[in-house]
Amino acid sequence: MSIAYLNGEWGAITDAKVSVLDRGFLFGDGIYEVIPVYAGKLFTLERHLIRLANSLSEVDMDNPMSDTQWTALLTEAVERSGENNAALYVQVTRGADTLRNHVYPDALVPTVFVMVNAAPILERNSVAPYSLITLDDFRWSMGQIKTVSLIAASMLKNKAIAAGANDAVLIRAGKVTECTASNIFVVVDGVLVTPPKSAHLLHGITRDLIVELALEHKISFQEREITVEELSGASEIFITSSTHEAWPVSHLNETPVGNGEPGVIWHHIDDLFQNFKKQV
Ligand code: PDD
Repeated sequence: MSIAYLNGEWGAITDAKVSVLDRGFLFGDGIYEVIPVYAGKLFTLERHLIRLANSLSEVDMDNPMSDTQWTALLTEAVERSGENNAALYVQVTRGADTLRNHVYPDALVPTVFVMVNAAPILERNSVAPYSLITLDDFRWSMGQIKTVSLIAASMLKNKAIAAGANDAVLIRAGKVTECTASNIFVVVDGVLVTPPKSAHLLHGITRDLIVELALEHKISFQEREITVEELSGASEIFITSSTHEAWPVSHLNETPVGNGEPGVIWHHIDDLFQNFKKQV
């Protein structure tokens, strides 16, 4: 059952309402996280709370709750939803002002919103590989902040869908950054490669886990810039996010990647990830 929390009240998502003067509504002045839920438990919650705190601090917003309070609230949201495999969405905006003003007002009560929705992809019943196209990354240069200002990402995602693809790989100055809502890994000359963390991409938690698993299991791995040419010649590509885990890519710009099937390194990483999930 989809459940929503808004500023202390619980109810149906369709009943939750915010003020038109909320800075999240007027300016996209807000931060969010998406946290996977497996078997009714929040996965890697601590890492998401750290990133939430970092994003809030980057935009000079006070964190409205301690980690203990967040943990209690988000755990209650999952319990109330009754969902097993789900995605928890949490958003904090700077709050509702009394007029539209770019300047941050002194004392505003932040708006805190949480919802939990079923996430069938996380059940991994079928993993149909994605087709990607390359698009110019015209988003801002603060990609490490997980902000609700997502118009650029939405434009790029919709361009990809209109072109018949599932998503876009974004290219900035000839280098791969990430996809519209996921990070990217490619296999070049047998080596697994992902772009280094920078202000041009979100520092994904699934990405971090996969880097840690690759290193731990001695998979040949490099964190370095990836050129468009390397992307085009990659024998494997996969994307990573909290809602997709590691998800294989079969086509890039309508051309098969490798033999057009999920590759051996993706299979290895996916096995490691599924085992890690079971352990925690
Ligand atoms: N998106 N890059 C971008 C731009 C993202 O929006 C996301 C996540 C990621 C992957 O991060 P993580 O592994 O921590 O989920 C990378 C979420 C799922 C979303 O916006 O729905």
